[in-house]
Amino acid sequence: MALFLGIDIGTSGSRALLIDEKGAVRGSASGSHTCQAPKPLWSEQDPAEWWAAVRSAVPAAVKAAGAKPEEIKGVGLSGQMHGLTLLDKANKVLRPAILWNDQRTAAECDEITRRAGGRKALLKLVGNPALTGFTAPKILWVRNHEPKLYAKAAKALLPKDYIRLLLTGEYATEVSDASGTLLLDVVNRRWSTKLLEKLKIDASLLPAVFESTVVSGQVTPAASEALQGALLPGTPVVGGGGDCAAAGVGSGIVKRGVAVVSLGTSGVVFLHADEVKTDPQGRAHTFCHAVPGKWHMMGVSLSSGGSFQWFKNALGAEEVAEAKAGGGDPYDLLVKKAAAVPAGSGGVQFLPYLTGERTPHADPYATGTFVGLTPSSTKGHLARAVIEGVCYSLRDSIEIFRSLKLPVKEIRVTGGGAKNPFWRQTIADVFGQGTCGLVAAEGPAYGVALLAAVGTGSFKSVEEACGATVQTCDPAKPNKKNQKVYDAYYPRWQGLYQALKNEFEGLAKVEG
Ligand code: XUL
Repeated sequence: MALFLGIDIGTSGSRALLIDEKGAVRGSASGSHTCQAPKPLWSEQDPAEWWAAVRSAVPAAVKAAGAKPEEIKGVGLSGQMHGLTLLDKANKVLRPAILWNDQRTAAECDEITRRAGGRKALLKLVGNPALTGFTAPKILWVRNHEPKLYAKAAKALLPKDYIRLLLTGEYATEVSDASGTLLLDVVNRRWSTKLLEKLKIDASLLPAVFESTVVSGQVTPAASEALQGALLPGTPVVGGGGDCAAAGVGSGIVKRGVAVVSLGTSGVVFLHADEVKTDPQGRAHTFCHAVPGKWHMMGVSLSSGGSFQWFKNALGAEEVAEAKAGGGDPYDLLVKKAAAVPAGSGGVQFLPYLTGERTPHADPYATGTFVGLTPSSTKGHLARAVIEGVCYSLRDSIEIFRSLKLPVKEIRVTGGGAKNPFWRQTIADVFGQGTCGLVAAEGPAYGVALLAAVGTGSFKSVEEACGATVQTCDPAKPNKKNQKVYDAYYPRWQGLYQALKNEFEGLAKVEG
């Protein structure tokens, strides 16, 4: 039977996953990466760590599946979006990659908007406003702050496309990930030569751009050797997708009106779109989908699972110790405490802006905030407030789609956080809309393995592949009583950011 390999270059680690033609998972393995924050607002990673993780995860996944390399008919690549990997002309990495959650580029975002002729003109060229996380501002930052290094730069690649180069020797990307560079004309699905000219970025810095199912290259003999023969030379590698579009495909979000909430470090609300629609205020992203000729709208909360992880690290020592002693999971223990207090967390509110915020505020200075503490506030109230705050911030994206008259008929929930039924129920209650889970909640690696199956001819289309493989489960209906509480708190919660936004910027600029 033909097998397909999905490789996802995530933030905390990379994952390799093998599926068969029926979509059944045959084996998977992961390798971890570290992140560095050498200065406040910075987030960097050494691309060598991605390759090391891939070199260990791919052979391990093939072994776990009991597969023979010749059974693997195609590979798909997915990865954290927006990261900048700069290479010299000998393909040497020039500096650590600057990641999606790096917030250093506020001045470069202003520069881009100015050079493009204003925000409206920029939205017209690339469908999106300049946001600190996107790639183009990072390119300008290196040009402005590290000019000697920039002079040596011959190629700028996204994380998964750097791995593609090591696997196939090709400089290539695909439309979904390229959309997040801010340099793609998302309407026409090609690089925006107009914006490149205005920004004075040489087009040769960018790789060729394809639709996501197109075969972009073949595994080289050197790569096959580096992977201990787990992939044969000549194995086709398709475009794949940015992790959001890839998770969208893996969750079957390939039809109008269907959305998915992915709860990872960041929280992504992803809606399929048959035609291009841009938010005139630029709050949600308009990107090409990994489905040829389609688009998607997306809102990103930068610290969703990340907020709960912070909470566990900062205040969950007791649960961590209890889990260690009893073999449980510290997150489940904290969720249990959260579930034991009523909806609304006794008035405690949490803004989940630990690493600034993207949708809807585009504010690198916003920080995580608790409001409403009283002597009766317990750890359970704080834990629930974190979960509720994350869900309110995800609702912000849904409200943007609703305001643009984009129908949101079905909401699927996936990602680490979604494994817990309390999280899924809280999302349904806060959104005031039913949700469901996914039987194979395997995320981006699964999505690009499906794209590999489409690109190498096992399915006629991405829609057909999803129809044959993706199944939903665990429906959750909103609890009317909780929904009422959340509907009452939501506008107040939204008001907190408005009340604090100037203070966030002021605080970030205090020296000392
Ligand atoms: C999407 C985004 C994140 C990263 C992290 O716009 O910034 O979801 O892709 O994986």
